[in-house]
Amino acid sequence: MERIPASGTLKMFELATRLEAEGKRIYHFEVGQPDFPTPPHIVAAGIEALEHGFTRYTSARGIPPLLDAIENHYSGRGIQIDGSKNVIVTPGAKMALFQGFLSTLDSIDDVLVLSPAWPTYRSLIRTVGAKPVDVNTHPRYGLDEEALKNSCSKTVTALVLNTPNNPTGGVLDKDQMKLIHDLAVDHDFVVFSDEIYEMLVYNGFKQPSMLEIDPNLEHTLVINGFSKTYAMTGWRLGFAVGNKETINNMVRIQQNTTSCATSFVQYAGTKALTGDQSSIKMMTTEYEKRRDEITNMFNNMDGIFCLNPMGAFYVFPDFSAYNLSSNTLAELILKKTGVTSTPGIVFGKDYDNHLRFSYATDRSVIKEGLSVLSEFLPTLL
Ligand SMILES: Cc1ncc(COP(=O)(O)O)c(C=O)c1O
Repeated sequence: MERIPASGTLKMFELATRLEAEGKRIYHFEVGQPDFPTPPHIVAAGIEALEHGFTRYTSARGIPPLLDAIENHYSGRGIQIDGSKNVIVTPGAKMALFQGFLSTLDSIDDVLVLSPAWPTYRSLIRTVGAKPVDVNTHPRYGLDEEALKNSCSKTVTALVLNTPNNPTGGVLDKDQMKLIHDLAVDHDFVVFSDEIYEMLVYNGFKQPSMLEIDPNLEHTLVINGFSKTYAMTGWRLGFAVGNKETINNMVRIQQNTTSCATSFVQYAGTKALTGDQSSIKMMTTEYEKRRDEITNMFNNMDGIFCLNPMGAFYVFPDFSAYNLSSNTLAELILKKTGVTSTPGIVFGKDYDNHLRFSYATDRSVIKEGLSVLSEFLPTLL
């Protein structure tokens, strides 16, 4: 574990906390979680489960009503899976990823990571002894087919993709996902498809699932969860969908580690999937307005290029013109303006000229924070 880097955002977070304690106004753009509360009907289902005594261990795989609800979540989109065989419910998507890596990867394996990428992938791949290999998705964060094909060596046994993407908000369409699947078949590797932001999409885009492209689940493990779609980060509830052999191995890990996801949280999760879905529309409508606001504000600043993301709640503007490392730039901006961000370097070594800003924050914070920033930045050029 000593070889695994500590969270790249910790230093910035500590600095922001110190400045805040000293009375400085801090504009938080570093947090990767919805600022909305969990919808009340989901909270009520959790309370009800507690009051009904659902406080015991459950099956390691998950409670049947939740496994059914996950099956139905996909069948409603024309995707057929068997909830009792192809699904495991975990304490968060992170745990699903960890179990997936642990049951699939060997220490001689290389794992392609489509970059820029959420740093947890690389940390978890290293934790199980395998080696992450970045494949950049430049330019404009679309799939670089040539780079991807050239990276498919004999030692590659898996690939990680994340659409919509953290940190760019970029998405892969069905053709691009199909191309990845074809490579997985040709080179016999597993695709870990992190689809946790699948419902947070804009401009009418519909995020396809890798399950549509590989219905036999021979080369696919889908990772998903409740944290982002239902504003449930602290509840810790995620799941994976894959072939029954991989899922059985993950169940064995879960039996011997966390035992199961928290019992009453699984009931709340069942309600999340089966109950009123209007909160998703409400949240995505608001995120989309914030996205437009933050993207426009960045693109009106000198020397910054900011793509208009199609999903998730992050922007990843390019600050190349400033000629500073992302750690130095993020720290300088925080000290001078109180605006927090996440340095691009944590998402991949080639992204040291970017900063990530989360717009899971109030529109007034976006307006004020970015106005302060736009006044300060020209002093650096
Ligand atoms: C791409 C991605 N996957 C997974 C997660 C973690 O999800 P969970 O809260 O379910 O562990 C995050 C959280 O930031 C994320 O950005």
